[in-house]
Amino acid sequence: QIPIWLDCDPGHDDAVAILLSCFLPQFKLLGISASYGNAPPDKTAYNTLSLITAMGKQNQIPVYAGAQRPWVRKPIYAPDIHGQSGLDGTSLLPEPKARLCSDQSYLNAMTNAIEAYTGTISIVSTGSLTSTATLFNERPHLKSMVKFISVMGGGINEGNRNENETAEFNIWIDPHAANMIFQDPILSSKCILVPLDLTHQAIATKEIELMVLSDGSSNLRRLFYELFIFFGQSYEHAQGFETGPPVHDPLTLIPLLEFYHIETHETVAFEYRRLQLQAIDHENSPNLGQTRVLKEYPKTCDTGTIVGFKLNMLYFWDQVNLALGLASKS
Ligand code: BDR
Ligand code: CA
Repeated sequence: QIPIWLDCDPGHDDAVAILLSCFLPQFKLLGISASYGNAPPDKTAYNTLSLITAMGKQNQIPVYAGAQRPWVRKPIYAPDIHGQSGLDGTSLLPEPKARLCSDQSYLNAMTNAIEAYTGTISIVSTGSLTSTATLFNERPHLKSMVKFISVMGGGINEGNRNENETAEFNIWIDPHAANMIFQDPILSSKCILVPLDLTHQAIATKEIELMVLSDGSSNLRRLFYELFIFFGQSYEHAQGFETGPPVHDPLTLIPLLEFYHIETHETVAFEYRRLQLQAIDHENSPNLGQTRVLKEYPKTCDTGTIVGFKLNMLYFWDQVNLALGLASKS
C-alpha cells in the first residue's frame, strides 16, 4: 500500500479524490487537511467531514484544518464552478458525524505522518499548494523524507480562468506557494504535476455519469451522480464544456500507482515530460498564475518536475467505478 496524505479543498472533483484515497486498496490514507480554495476553509472542512461521513470513514480518517489563506494574495474562491458551499448540487450530503481534529495543527499531523512513513509516503495536493509549501518551508528536514508530491495544478498549453486565459485555478490562487515547490531542487524533482493538459481529457460524459449512478442502488452513487450533474452544468455555463466536466483532482492518484510499481506502464500509460517550471506571481502581470516552462530535461534524469500529459483514461474511470462499488458496500 502507498501511504498518502491528502490536502484538498472540496470541491466536486476533490470529492472523487477523497473517494479514491479512501477506498482504492492500493492506498493507505493517513489523514486529510482541508484548505481554503474552492470555498472558504470552514466550508471545505465541513464538506470534507460530510463526505467522509457519507463514505462511512468518519472514525477512521483524521481531518485537520489546513491552510486558511494564500501566502501573499487575497483569497479567491470558485463559486462559479462549485457553488457557494463549494459542493453545491445535492441534498444527499449528511451532517458530519466527525469533527476537525484539534489535538494538533495540520503541520504537526503531516510531520508525524511523514516521520512514521519516512521514504515511502507521498503527499497528494488537489487544491492550492499553500499547505504543502508551508510545511516544507517551516520544516525543511522533511523534504528528503517524502517520496512524491502529486499535485493537480497548472496548465502548459491550457488555462481555466476567465480573468487570465493562461492560468489554472490552484496555481493562480497562490502562485508564491507554487513557486516554493517548483523552485526547490529537492521538491521540484519529487513533484508530479497533473495539469489541465491532462485533466481536460478526463471528461465525465453522459456514459460516465451513468456508470457513476450504476443501478442507482446506493445513496453514495446517487450523491456522486448529483455532484457530477451540478459540476457539468457549471462547466457548461462558466467554461463552455458541452460534453461534460473535467474531473481533475482524482487523476493525481493514478501516476503514483506506476511510480510505486504497483501497476505497470502498460496499464497506466502515464506520459510525462521533465520540466523546470515557474509560476508567474507578480500581481500586475497579465499572466498572473501561469505555469511557465523554463527548461526541459531529458526524461532519464531526475531533475525537474514530472509533468503529465496523458494516461489511460479507461483505467482511471475503472478505478472510480471500483472505488464507488467498494464504498457502496461498506
Ligand atoms: C482545480 O480547481 C478547482 O476548482 C478544482 O477542484 C481543481 O482542483 C482545477 O483547476
Ligand atoms: Ca480541488
